[in-house]
Amino acid sequence: MDTVRITVKIKRFDPEADARPYWAEYPVEARPTDRVLDVLNHIKWEVDGSLSYRKSCAHGICGSDAMLIDGVNRLACKLLVRDVGEIIRVEPIRGLQVIKDLIVDMEPFFDSYKAVLPYFINDDPEPARERLQSPEDREIFDATTKCILCAACTTSCPVFWTNERYIGPAAIVNAHRFIFDSRDQGTAQRFAGALGEANGLWRCRTAYNCTEACPRDIPVTRAIQEVKREMLWRSA
Ligand code: SF4
Ligand code: F3S
Ligand code: FES
Repeated sequence: MDTVRITVKIKRFDPEADARPYWAEYPVEARPTDRVLDVLNHIKWEVDGSLSYRKSCAHGICGSDAMLIDGVNRLACKLLVRDVGEIIRVEPIRGLQVIKDLIVDMEPFFDSYKAVLPYFINDDPEPARERLQSPEDREIFDATTKCILCAACTTSCPVFWTNERYIGPAAIVNAHRFIFDSRDQGTAQRFAGALGEANGLWRCRTAYNCTEACPRDIPVTRAIQEVKREMLWRSA
């Protein structure tokens, strides 16, 4: 397949060397069917080895290469060059501290995730066999099991941009996955903890950016609304 000439503009920053972020430009040849991740790999491997970004699976599963591409949070491994254009602008996701170039500090994001107790809680005696669940009950939280913790949602949220202590949509999605699991008993604990705190669930202002950003097509805002309703129902 023929290649096309494109220009990749990358917002780069090395806190140990640069006074401020700057745009670096890389004119490269690419096939229209290359993914943006392929182009970044080419730049790093063939042009400038100092470029830093995260990636692993290259197939939309690990969630490590979320970045702002032409102003939209995307996974670089899921976006084709032909769907962007001849100039591709790449920046780190917003709201988290830049460690270097496209790598941000994910610790606050994972702290929020851990704070919602994203695991199965049930203190009943262990059953002799598995804890059964009907297909209908499983369906209720099916969408939120698909989260890959890429942070595209949380870092597209205007509330998070202005308040980095807001727990964020990704954490709420992962709470949803267990709150609506008919076998789980940890909802009261989650609501009494991080979800119910000042920077918890109710900071969400229904901006919908998170839903638009999710590469797994999870209805993030709907999941947040369902968790809100559940909290209200339980406190009534
Ligand atoms: Fe990524 Fe979607 Fe999970 Fe948010 S809900 S972390 S955008 S997969
Ligand atoms: Fe933010 Fe999504 Fe709520 S963008 S305000 S978490 S609906
Ligand atoms: Fe794993 Fe893109 S590299 S999701």
